[in-house]
Amino acid sequence: MRFDILTLFPDLFTGFLSGSLLGAARTNGLIDISVTDIRDHAEGVHRQVDDRPFGGGPGMLLMPGPVVGCVEAVQQQQPNPGHVILLSPSGRRLDQPLVESLAARDRVILVCGRYEGFDARIAPALGAEEISVGDYVLSGGEVAAMVIVDAVSRLVPGVIGDAESARQDSFSGADRLVEGPQYTRPREFRGVPVPDILLCGDHARIASWRRAQSLEATRRREAHAPPVPARTH
Ligand SMILES: C[S@@+](CC[C@H](N)C(=O)[O-])C[C@H]1O[C@@H](n2cnc3c(N)ncnc32)[C@H](O)[C@@H]1O
Repeated sequence: MRFDILTLFPDLFTGFLSGSLLGAARTNGLIDISVTDIRDHAEGVHRQVDDRPFGGGPGMLLMPGPVVGCVEAVQQQQPNPGHVILLSPSGRRLDQPLVESLAARDRVILVCGRYEGFDARIAPALGAEEISVGDYVLSGGEVAAMVIVDAVSRLVPGVIGDAESARQDSFSGADRLVEGPQYTRPREFRGVPVPDILLCGDHARIASWRRAQSLEATRRREAHAPPVPARTH
């Protein structure tokens, strides 16, 4: 799978792309990630990429010319033009089904916004999908792009050693439950013992206990984290 990341701050990705699972996956040729500086596609002595919004308002917007030009240049580097994503708080909220659908693609191009975001003509010009990583505002799309690259890469075959572990993760599988509590040594920590059932050796009973815990954790989570209510005024 190939990711292209388009950003005004390419240095932010250096450590992220070389460490841990992603670094190994790149070395092993399982994923290919390229980072491009949007400013390299801007024109003029000042390589301007942003300008004030028409109609007034605070801050600066990314201009369509440099962003669309950069995406199109990157698309031409490979036969597959890829699926273009603009990172935006107003986009479709990322969840595990969306992560899974992105992992089924061969090429994803992630465009990181900055300042007050993108000129509204950029997404339609590129046929891009807008994705948000949650209902809060980041300073730039770079961290959001890292979230997507990390979550999607885990699902690329071979990236995590044990494919079964990804299938059992929270939000995965047919019922998309969250994981219940897990324990490792010691058997007792600060007076809290590991539940006896996990030590009984009966795999069927353990599986049934884990399923019940998972259902309870999912129910509790949904009770504590209802969707953000819409404001009516
Ligand atoms: C300061 S934000 C712009 C916020 C914009 N003025 C608004 O109110 O929606 C700058 C950039 O950060 C990125 N960003 C911020 N929050 C994000 C989120 N929740 N999900 C994805 N990208 C986000 C986007 O690329 C955005 O263009």
